[in-house]
Amino acid sequence: DNRVSIAIDGPAGAGKSTVARLVAERLGYIYIDTGAMYRAVTLQALMDKININDETALTRVAVDVDIALRVNEKGHTRVYLNSLDVSKEIRSPEVSRHVSLVSRVPGVRKRMTQLQREMAARCSVVMEGRDIGTHVLPDADMKFFLTASVEERARRRHAELQERGYTLSFAEIVEDIKQRDNIDASRAVAPLKPAPDAEIIDCSIMTVEQVVNLIVTRVSGRF
Ligand code: C5P
Repeated sequence: DNRVSIAIDGPAGAGKSTVARLVAERLGYIYIDTGAMYRAVTLQALMDKININDETALTRVAVDVDIALRVNEKGHTRVYLNSLDVSKEIRSPEVSRHVSLVSRVPGVRKRMTQLQREMAARCSVVMEGRDIGTHVLPDADMKFFLTASVEERARRRHAELQERGYTLSFAEIVEDIKQRDNIDASRAVAPLKPAPDAEIIDCSIMTVEQVVNLIVTRVSGRF
């Protein structure tokens, strides 16, 4: 078996998605954005007007929903919910505000973890999320944990959201990030934390290119 799995975890806005996508591109592996999967479940739950505290109903949504990640010709992942492209909708502030509440539900996590393990069993992957190194792929070949200061992460999110046409204030984004980190790190099942064998990379003063180069160098040294 010569499949390789790379786990990239970290808090909201640390630049994980961009880094993971570029690392996968450089190595020729498949990039899997697990946050997009939790966001897709959240979007479905919001569309179905499900009570955000109803764990049974949220679990049912996660089990019934059909989520697919497909890479388009530009190398970007598109997210499909029951065959509809929802790549834009899952990034809305409303989904961002609710996603941590949906992803703390054990039944939701169980289903997503199962799907993620199935994906990793098929090919070499760069899988990005919160609990990949600790929980989804504890035997991943290499693990990285990307962090950055809250201000730096909020600054990046702010720029990213503005580009997408959303007009949230900087203060609102700081609040959203802090709240999500808090819920993600304190939940009972698979909380956000570095795996003991993960390399921690503080991205506050590094460029995306520097982080990508660092990870690719580490991986190339081993495979
Ligand atoms: O990575 P992104 O910010 O899109 O993730 C959205 C949310 O999905 C996170 O705040 C977290 O609540 C949840 N998530 C998770 N486990 C993962 C990936 C994401 O709980 N592996």
